[in-house]
Amino acid sequence: MAFPSNEVESTQDLLDAQSHVWNHIFHHINSMSLKCAIQLGIPDVIHKHGNPMTVSQLSNALPINKAKSPCLHRLIRILVHSKFLDKVKTTLSEDEEEAYCLTRASRLLLRCEPMSMAPFALAMLDSVKMDPWHHMSEWFQNEDSSPFFTKHRMTIFEYAGNDQRLNGLFNEAMASDAGFVTSVLSKECRHVFEGLKSMVDVGGGTGATAKGIAAAFPGLKCIVLDLPHVVADLEGSENLSFFSGDMFEFIPPADAVFLKWLLHDWSDEDCIKILRKCKEAISPGGKVIIVEIVVGDQKQDNRATETQFFFDLQVMVQINGRERSEKDWANLFSNAGFKNYKITHVLGLRSVIEVFP
Ligand SMILES: C[S@@+](CC[C@H](N)C(=O)[O-])C[C@H]1O[C@@H](n2cnc3c(N)ncnc32)[C@H](O)[C@@H]1O
Repeated sequence: MAFPSNEVESTQDLLDAQSHVWNHIFHHINSMSLKCAIQLGIPDVIHKHGNPMTVSQLSNALPINKAKSPCLHRLIRILVHSKFLDKVKTTLSEDEEEAYCLTRASRLLLRCEPMSMAPFALAMLDSVKMDPWHHMSEWFQNEDSSPFFTKHRMTIFEYAGNDQRLNGLFNEAMASDAGFVTSVLSKECRHVFEGLKSMVDVGGGTGATAKGIAAAFPGLKCIVLDLPHVVADLEGSENLSFFSGDMFEFIPPADAVFLKWLLHDWSDEDCIKILRKCKEAISPGGKVIIVEIVVGDQKQDNRATETQFFFDLQVMVQINGRERSEKDWANLFSNAGFKNYKITHVLGLRSVIEVFP
């Protein structure tokens, strides 16, 4: 066997490489531990308690088989490591003990938090959406549109149309993002909506984002267009209404079309069709407002870049979609007949793109 010349250094390199591989093999343990913590309600129980909790207090308060209590500290330890819990000292008993409190990230997982990301986490980590990952290499070799299709023999929207549980989970996940986006948009991006009299949120799900925008801009009439299984039983309010239909067929006319997390589900060809339909729908002087990732959009850290790449593979696996760079977006807009666009980086990993005919 050939050993590299500098044995000490190369042994360390070899061990580092092994550790790197192990870390990646077990990366899913972070997501799965997070899912377990949300399902057990760990953040909610700590929040309700009002003070940091020891493992034994958590064990008493959580809906777990008490025979499994000795395993709880191992789950807690990884949640501390992944910054979903903070460890603090408490003098609850005579001995100083370790107790656990929430971090900024785990406060976003509280069920009572208006911007809760718990529904999004549970939908993304549901087995219906996780199973297709086991078919990614098979999909690279077959003719199917997505690994989701390879696994389930239908698209995710067809699946949601036939399965109440997934439909509910998915719609709740989408709605849970609305609080986030509308709070940032109504604070940082008022100019994007000011002056508009009407707007259609195409593929707007159950209308949570449109509801937030309608409330922030009472003079703006918002219409939510989505598929029948999503909007069938929903009732509008004063300046919010629902329209059941297919965006490839017809988009109701309005001053602006709003597309959040919509185009990343579709191929370039389909996006161009959707954008052309948008162009037909908007009044003279109108625009399309897009909320999506612009890959590599700003000077971002390695983690932000990795998260954008995660999203890109996520939409590839689930629906044959893709996340796009500014150049990709610019090509789509000009191919769909638009003249101009403006990107505002206000939403962290995502941006607001205004597109003008
Ligand atoms: C990723 S979700 C985004 C939902 C919402 N815009 C949000 O960000 O919360 C995509 C939405 O597009 C809808 N959709 C898919 N195909 C559609 C079509 N042909 N016409 C209208 N809506 C469609 C889905 O039902 C789903 O609600």
